[in-house]
Amino acid sequence: MSQQEPRLKSARHIAAEVFAQTVREGDRVVDATLGTGQDCLLLCQLVGEGGKVYGFDVQQDALRRTQERLKKQGIAHRATLHLVGHERMAEFVQQGVRLAAFNLGWLPGSDKSVTTQAQTTLQALDAALGLLAPLGMLVVCIYPGHAEGAREQDAILDWCSQLSPKRYTALWHRFINGGLGAPSCLVVEKIK
Ligand SMILES: C[S@@+](CC[C@H](N)C(=O)[O-])C[C@H]1O[C@@H](n2cnc3c(N)ncnc32)[C@H](O)[C@@H]1O
Repeated sequence: MSQQEPRLKSARHIAAEVFAQTVREGDRVVDATLGTGQDCLLLCQLVGEGGKVYGFDVQQDALRRTQERLKKQGIAHRATLHLVGHERMAEFVQQGVRLAAFNLGWLPGSDKSVTTQAQTTLQALDAALGLLAPLGMLVVCIYPGHAEGAREQDAILDWCSQLSPKRYTALWHRFINGGLGAPSCLVVEKIK
């Protein structure tokens, strides 16, 4: 008898589903936290030859790992990577972006003290909303299982609850039986 895998494995799984439902060939998208480049690779595959992924991270190692991952697939030219904090993304990206992805926290296998911070994350989320095209999506994976992550989650939910319902719809996917540190995925759609 064949066993089916559970589909709701993680916040990242939900994020990846939203990427696939939203991003089309030729789109311009933002990866606000490059990390190991896993999300960036997926986004590069979705935007195709005519599209572009603008990537940001504050660690050279993240850019290196992302670049290597994309090169292996022969699609590094679909991404422009910036060694710059995501709070400055509007200096590097023009409006009309289809999707902006955030995967908060630290670079796996690296210094955990270099983690995303509530204050700059909020600045970056504001910047990302400003860049989105109508019907564009903001996708944020949140990890409140560590102190800064918990602060970040509180700040993001507060920020999000103040968005005008006339301009945005916001949905918070959270594993409710996973305890206080359960990861979640926030999705905000820009209506106009
Ligand atoms: C959980 S990792 C991202 C994982 C990545 N999306 C992937 O697919 O592997 C979080 C990343 O955010 C980066 N980061 C921390 N502060 C940042 C900032 N202000 N701007 C951009 N990236 C930042 C960290 O260096 C780390 O690489």
